[in-house]
Amino acid sequence: MTADEIEEYLAPMRHEYADPRSLILPALRYAQGEAGWLPPASMSAVAEATGFTEAYVESVASFYDRCYLEPVGRRVLNVCVTLSCMLRGSDEIFDHIADYLGLDGEGTTGDGMFTLQRVQCIGACDRAPCLQVDSGEQVGPLEPADATCLIDDLRDLPAPERYER
Ligand code: FES
Repeated sequence: MTADEIEEYLAPMRHEYADPRSLILPALRYAQGEAGWLPPASMSAVAEATGFTEAYVESVASFYDRCYLEPVGRRVLNVCVTLSCMLRGSDEIFDHIADYLGLDGEGTTGDGMFTLQRVQCIGACDRAPCLQVDSGEQVGPLEPADATCLIDDLRDLPAPERYER
């Protein structure tokens, strides 16, 4: 994706943001839509399109756990590990999922199907412990067996639409 394409995408929203720093996140999201992650070339294009340095753009991207600085699986399982979920067993859920997927902690399965990561609060504390699939559905409260069923169901579903803009 080129800086020109990102600039074109940002053009209609530029007037909505008094602070140009606010454009960085939508630009990153748009750029990520192409490959599903943010390779260095995309980071450079976002920097050029928004007028910030690559280092600054990368610092923004690295703050958000839905901005992927490395390739991810077709489905991303975001297990919330913030206090409410932690107190209700998110560590056990995470470990159970990792075991089931054959992962040693966070990472992507060898078949490229799943990426598992720990994230901070996903805004569903009343359903703790919970996880979010990709950037969409929050699922909880979870028991380890629920997580296993969820993964099995996800395997059978068509590719996600998270790359859409
Ligand atoms: Fe887990 Fe808020 S603490 S969703």
